[in-house]
Amino acid sequence: MSNSFLIFASVLFAAFLGLSFIQITKIYDPEHHGDHHGKVVYGFPVPEFVTAGAEEEFVTPIAIRLASANPALGPKNAAKCTTCHAFEQGGAAKLGPALWGIVGRDIAADDGFAYSGALMGIDGVWDAEALDGFLLKPKAWAPGTKMGFAGLSDEADRANLIAWMFQQADAPLALPEPSAEDLAAIEAHEASGEH
Ligand code: HEC
Repeated sequence: MSNSFLIFASVLFAAFLGLSFIQITKIYDPEHHGDHHGKVVYGFPVPEFVTAGAEEEFVTPIAIRLASANPALGPKNAAKCTTCHAFEQGGAAKLGPALWGIVGRDIAADDGFAYSGALMGIDGVWDAEALDGFLLKPKAWAPGTKMGFAGLSDEADRANLIAWMFQQADAPLALPEPSAEDLAAIEAHEASGEH
């Protein structure tokens, strides 16, 4: 083997290593990873069960996210719901209840729909906070729900969808104002230096 071939081969190998490293850091870069539940240590994801009990990921309060949400991006996420739900005015129930005017309505209030006992057992109305919690992980927020949907893990996706759902009503309600607690939570989070 000639020297120049060896040099050529080692340059190629170094380039390959460099590229692999770039790929690995891209894949596991927490900023660009949709699921914020696992922690990332030295570039490698640690499964959630290892970090469970450690401090919770910070989620920006929904009222604050709604202030900068883009309802025009709602339909992109609503496309994940439309096999089971109609969002349009006068829409009928499918696998799930019709959702026109859902914001501000009592939970499980469509008399024509056979809800699970799980949803029937929850008091309250579908405000921004309830929707944000339910849509993050339906089965965690309403254990026993028959909504067969894993959830939307991205907090901005949920905010865009909820902002759009606020508009799908005869008399759309105003978006909620951030509460004093919401603002204090953001301030404390920023002071902690985490992102
Ligand atoms: C596979 C079908 C399916 C998909 C997909 C689905 N849902 Fe549902 N959804 C249901 C069912 C079924 C229920 C009733 C749950 C129960 O009774 O426990 C429900 C209930 C709901 C409720 C409560 C309605 C009420 O009257 O109280 C809301 C809000 C909701 N879904 C929103 C959504 C949104 C938003 C999406 C998309 C991000 C979505 N769902 C995706 C089937 C689905």
